Amino acid sequence: MTYETIEVKPVTPRIGAEVFGVDLGKPLGNRTFQEIHDALMQHQVLFFRDQEMDLDRHKAFGRLFGELHVHPGSPGPEGHPEVLLIHADANSKHVAGEKWHSDVSCDERPPMGSILHIHTLPDSGGDTLFSSMYAAYEALSEPMKRFLEGLTAVHDGEHVYRGRYTHQVGDDAGKVYPKAVHPVVRTHPETRRKALYVNSFFTTRIQELSKSESDAVLKLLWDHVADPMFQCRFRWRKNSVAFWDNRCVQHQAMWDYFPQVRSGFRVTVQGDRPF
Ligand code: SIN
Repeated sequence: MTYETIEVKPVTPRIGAEVFGVDLGKPLGNRTFQEIHDALMQHQVLFFRDQEMDLDRHKAFGRLFGELHVHPGSPGPEGHPEVLLIHADANSKHVAGEKWHSDVSCDERPPMGSILHIHTLPDSGGDTLFSSMYAAYEALSEPMKRFLEGLTAVHDGEHVYRGRYTHQVGDDAGKVYPKAVHPVVRTHPETRRKALYVNSFFTTRIQELSKSESDAVLKLLWDHVADPMFQCRFRWRKNSVAFWDNRCVQHQAMWDYFPQVRSGFRVTVQGDRPF
């Protein structure tokens, strides 16, 4: 693919690219938007450096790709319900995304993409790992692909979100968190490539299998997804941005910097029902 307004340097042959020559803090021309979109379709996660972007510009960039998603648990900073605060410090009991996952896959229409801007970093650590679910699917044997085709899995937010945001919203008793059923192998609506779509955060059960069969198959798939062959790892700097396509990528945030501070904002773009 050739680009006229941006420069795109792949991080690995399977996943990830760094993008140069764009200022996300300013409105983008149509051509630049189209090239960022095309690079995302090809590389699945894009990395940008040195981006000064306030919350309004961050949301405006996200809106180029679709309606913004509002997180089912976290309220977002004052006046910005569509922004997810990503923050960890010495008082944190959890951080967002500690296990391999696709964002909010428990939604009926899970997010298409997520755009994370990090402004405060520990001295070292706090990297994010990304894994290509195209590459993970394509590496399966043909009999395994046939076995998984047509299976569906439950994705549940309850065990992930219950009690997690009480420091921000108070008691969440009575709140109902999302739960949805999605295909184990989904087809990307734009590229038409097939991708594995089960993750160790939200997926609780393959519906068509017995409980013990489902546990065994999910364990096998989660081990498979974590193979470094499908991955790239991003080392953040102040004002770096990562934009990943949740329809074909899983990610995991490394919390190896406790008790230091890591902080930023995520804007998440609404997606479609997986098929
Ligand atoms: C997330 O969006 O899951 C958090 C990722 C990160 O903090 O690197």
